[in-house]
Amino acid sequence: MAGHAATAEDGYALWLRYAPLTGSAKERLDQFNPVVVQTGEADPSVKVAEEELRRGLTGLLGHVPASSGGSPIVLACNDGSSGARGHFNVAAHQQANGRSLLAISAADSVGCLYGAFALLRELSLGRDPATVELAQAPAMPLRMLDHWDNPDGTVERGYAGRSIFDWWHLPEELSPRMIDYARANASIGINGVVVNNVNASPLFLTERYLPKLKRLADAWRPYGIRLYISVRFSAPIEVGGLKTADPLAPQVKAWWKAQAGKLYQAIPDFGGFLVKANSEGQPGPQDYHRTHAQGANMLAAALGNRGTVIWRAFVYASSGETDRVKQAYEEFKPLDGKFAPNVILQVKNGPLDFQPREPFHPLFGAMPHTRMMLEAQITREYLGQATGIVYLAPLWKEVLDAPTGHGATVAQVIEPTGMAGVANTGSDRDWTGDQFDQANWYAFGRLAWSPALSSDQIAREWVGQTFSRNPNFVRQLVPMMLSSRQAVVDYMTPLGLAHQMGTGHHYGPAPWVCTLDRPEWNPCYYNRADAEGIGFDRTRSGSDALAQYAPSVAAQWADPRTMDENDLLWFHHLPWSYRTQSGKSLWDELISRYDRGVAAVDSMAREWQTLQPYVDHERFVDVASSLAIQRKEARWWRDASIAYWQSLNHLPLPAGERPPEHSLSYYEALEFPDAPG
Ligand code: GCU
Repeated sequence: MAGHAATAEDGYALWLRYAPLTGSAKERLDQFNPVVVQTGEADPSVKVAEEELRRGLTGLLGHVPASSGGSPIVLACNDGSSGARGHFNVAAHQQANGRSLLAISAADSVGCLYGAFALLRELSLGRDPATVELAQAPAMPLRMLDHWDNPDGTVERGYAGRSIFDWWHLPEELSPRMIDYARANASIGINGVVVNNVNASPLFLTERYLPKLKRLADAWRPYGIRLYISVRFSAPIEVGGLKTADPLAPQVKAWWKAQAGKLYQAIPDFGGFLVKANSEGQPGPQDYHRTHAQGANMLAAALGNRGTVIWRAFVYASSGETDRVKQAYEEFKPLDGKFAPNVILQVKNGPLDFQPREPFHPLFGAMPHTRMMLEAQITREYLGQATGIVYLAPLWKEVLDAPTGHGATVAQVIEPTGMAGVANTGSDRDWTGDQFDQANWYAFGRLAWSPALSSDQIAREWVGQTFSRNPNFVRQLVPMMLSSRQAVVDYMTPLGLAHQMGTGHHYGPAPWVCTLDRPEWNPCYYNRADAEGIGFDRTRSGSDALAQYAPSVAAQWADPRTMDENDLLWFHHLPWSYRTQSGKSLWDELISRYDRGVAAVDSMAREWQTLQPYVDHERFVDVASSLAIQRKEARWWRDASIAYWQSLNHLPLPAGERPPEHSLSYYEALEFPDAPG
């Protein structure tokens, strides 16, 4: 990448590594002899596309491409077609002189850039350039990354070092990393970036930050990326000098309007505001007895038709009265149809909080008169953070493909709007803290581009571009990736358990925690385990959260005997002796799932060792050590959880089972003051 071409295999190049082709793929590209034709246009996105083609081809060919005499690659970026912004065609034609010509055509220059990246992806994977034929359009208009980065350089739930944004040195200094970041994003179709944490500092609305934001927005514009900021609802008080932030107060409306005006003057394509309001202690319209809709619509009016307010549905009050997973639906469903047209409601994939597995959020499909987008978490707050291999595409696919029972799948509900992923980037050289977490950034972008892609195809693409195209390698590694998410579910929270992690840092098991002030922050609130049984009754006899789903969907989870047991204890409280579908008792089944998870990680670590011949030394060692940590973590989760359940049910382990390595009190006493928060 820019200025780093000669560096070692440290992961910096991501999937844009463009390693030289070999064998027949190399022969075909050599024979094709691509020539990037200069369009002569001054458009910055076209220039970027040409540059990327030259860079990519140089890597793939192993030398700089010829400047004449070969097969031209032509960018036709104003082809008069209409359709979704970003759509493109790439097709090879035979010319009169017998040589091929590859045309990348699109209605706009960003479409051309996407086409260039798509062509390079195909070539990287060994496709014959003479037969390339692609016609693609993004499935949804907004494909965003949400950064939980703070101005002081820390990253909330970030496990890859410090923030990639150097606010201190901006605007004068723009790190080259900001360009490589934009290239990576554009290559997977990301077109919006929220640069700061949802727990927002009001600094981003000060005069001092305006030129910083402008510099970034200008740098990213050629890559088709619009900049957004998270705003703090009480900013009119904190940085505006007002006495109130009441959304109906004229001076508050005027203040936000003035802020928006300044932003648009500096950044004409400024994307808009992301807002976390009246959630986990953040200020919001309810502080003034106004609704979420009143708050959102006030900000929407300030932006006018220039931008979008993305309002988060992640809310829950501190009372233990209502099942936490029911609260967002209860607050937002009555507001359907009340939001301004430039407001989008951003809903997490599940109703709790980015757990290893959750049923989809009942708001999807339940607010037909509200624009809704999906929020996913790329950073692995609750899934082992940046260690081991946990490939998240299967988690997101599970949600996207889920029928809501309201006549559409979750993907269909959000397609008119978009998808946002909480970014997992940081200052670490490999960007994501772990080589395999790059795959999650990649997969998020690819799914936002096309939710119809399979987890398998995305993994193949990523592996081939990032590590090696060797078919034996791909054949072995891809299944490992595909099963890695179920492995983490199994060793952490099998059978629909959730929220069993340590307080604060969210690392490691702590199912025994039951003394936190806020009831719904306690793992015991979710496991409801005692001498008799385990699980959260969310049927009519319990919290009745099931009733928030469409009847056809509620019916599928109502009966523990027929439902998919992956969600069993999410919806049902059952005795330890309950007979599961395998014929085992619930207790035995639970243990076999923990074991399955531990075994899956052991087998990933073993298999990785056999892949050494295909991987450069640095990344081989890096992944091997990360898997060694994951093996330890899997045992820790299994053993600590079993020790705790046994302290309640006093049941013996099934014959031949390995007892927990330590006593319950050992696990309870572990502390992690050094963990990232
Ligand atoms: C989780 C996470 C918080 C974050 C919150 C949110 O609860 O632990 O750090 O602020 O989600 O999405 O707003």
